[in-house]
Amino acid sequence: CGIVAIVGRAPVAPLIVDALKRLEYRGYDSAGVATLDDGVLARRRAPGRLVNLEKRLQAEPLGGNIGIGHTRWATHGVPNETNAHPHFSGGVAVVHNGIIENFSDLRDELARDGYSFSSQTDTEVVAHLVSRELAKGADPVEAAHNAIRRLEGAFALAILFEGDDDLIVGARNGPPLAIGHGEGEMFLGSDAIALAPFTDSITYLEDGDWAVVRRNEMSIFDIDGNPVERRRQQSLGTSYMVDKGNHRHFMEKEIHEQPEVISHTLAHYLDFTNGTCRQLDLPFDFAAINRLAISACGTAYLAGLIGKYWFERHARLPVDIDIASEFRYREMPLSKDDAALFISQSGETADTLASLRYCRKAGMKIGAVVNVRESTIARESDVTLPTLAGPEIGVASTKAFTCQLSVLAALSVRAARARGAISAEQEKALVRQLSEAPRLATQVLKLDTEIEKLARELGKYKHVLYLGRDTNFPLAMEGALKLKEISYIHAEGYAAGELKHGPIALIDEKMPVIVIAPHDRIFEKTVSNMQEVAARGGKIILITDREGAARSTVDTLATIVLPDVPDIISPIIYALPIQMLAYYTAVFMGTDVDQPRNLAKSVTVE
Ligand code: G6P
Repeated sequence: CGIVAIVGRAPVAPLIVDALKRLEYRGYDSAGVATLDDGVLARRRAPGRLVNLEKRLQAEPLGGNIGIGHTRWATHGVPNETNAHPHFSGGVAVVHNGIIENFSDLRDELARDGYSFSSQTDTEVVAHLVSRELAKGADPVEAAHNAIRRLEGAFALAILFEGDDDLIVGARNGPPLAIGHGEGEMFLGSDAIALAPFTDSITYLEDGDWAVVRRNEMSIFDIDGNPVERRRQQSLGTSYMVDKGNHRHFMEKEIHEQPEVISHTLAHYLDFTNGTCRQLDLPFDFAAINRLAISACGTAYLAGLIGKYWFERHARLPVDIDIASEFRYREMPLSKDDAALFISQSGETADTLASLRYCRKAGMKIGAVVNVRESTIARESDVTLPTLAGPEIGVASTKAFTCQLSVLAALSVRAARARGAISAEQEKALVRQLSEAPRLATQVLKLDTEIEKLARELGKYKHVLYLGRDTNFPLAMEGALKLKEISYIHAEGYAAGELKHGPIALIDEKMPVIVIAPHDRIFEKTVSNMQEVAARGGKIILITDREGAARSTVDTLATIVLPDVPDIISPIIYALPIQMLAYYTAVFMGTDVDQPRNLAKSVTVE
């Protein structure tokens, strides 16, 4: 979904719709625009594609030189006109990307104050909050600031006020938002692509920033209201489909996009308002199959491996998981009564496609978790289960991986419910836990300085071992894969319990061991493995969720402490420090991060 806002010199509604078209690649299911038409707030909204909104605007044009627009990807509430943005309250209009996590508390609080809700969205609370501040006597800028301070979750916002036709307030905590600088006009957009026809002079807001945007000036503040400086830069938006924003590499940008794209992906499969999984038009019934066969390559394979833990744990559905190049030749017995799932960012990987065709021949029903919807794998499957990661440019997969995990987690809950393995209450609890992923991911990204420092240390070694148990075992393999792919440091990922059956022979003071161990039911088992490493002089880097968790028993070289996260989203959240560590190590080593030697983004050969 996307945001566009203009404080302009000519009627803005048609310009906003054009800019929204440039954001279509992000996916959406309704759209809307609001302007100050003769000083009065007015809006047009329509479900479906932007052409529906254009038709509304042709029939009922909107004047006004200031306005905000939005394409919505439904998270809370179905994609109809009432739920489409902008949302109004008093003289305030709001568009929003992301998820306001404390929306039900805020909604109760606002309802007690007499505010009524006309939509099912989480966004409407923002409009009411700002409007309530205005009613208390705050000026528009104060009112917006006070409201933003109350919000928890991931959001990008643009706010328009009746009574001030030279003011839009923008805010960012998670989903991106950029300010475009014009001559006597100013713009806000989800990315530089949206703003490309207007300007190539861009300032990206950072997480926690909010901005006051007027025709001839703009100021950016932190959450406490202190002014902050953000660099103004030339965007490549016009010549390049996607640009790097404030980032040095696409990989860094893609790591930072994760809160937003995870939120899009989860919202595609889960209805956060009701705490249920959305209906999917599947060609098979989860309750009727006995096994699920998953195959994929590289990072997508490791996502599938984590999926196996989820399907088996939550849905009691046995999963066979294979590397696609093995699957197609190992002559396993396949049943036409079972289903096969293929996972691929590009949707073009030759071995994955060949495995799909192999299952097709066996008469199996086929689902594909893909990022490129027009791809061959998507076309040849019975159902496409999209990851909404947006274009991934960096060769080393980051956001596509966590979006694949998001799809698999949501699917496993859906399968669990279909197979009667969990109750409606349990489904609700799991959906609630999944909805916390974007916010927690945003928090983890703030550890970048700490992780960058650690990467300088890691870059001094020639070999690195990654250990984890349960879903952190595949993640240990993904950590090792990321590191070797982009920094060329030799790395291996092992199940922590397997250490003593071989890799322990490698341990000495030259071998850092990265241990991924949240404080869960098997944490103590992993502590024992860390003791085995420490006893042999190995240097431990622990990624966990409690300061001092293992310090009493084991000395670590460093401990990265993440927030406490619910079990089901743990692999999604723990993927981030793993990616950041590989990224900063590669930057430190001076390699070509986005295009590492010998690797390709899409491997269409066997
Ligand atoms: C290549 C890429 C990997 C990716 C794998 C599978 O090797 O370098 O990052 O995981 O292909 O690609 P797919 O597009 O099928 O997910």
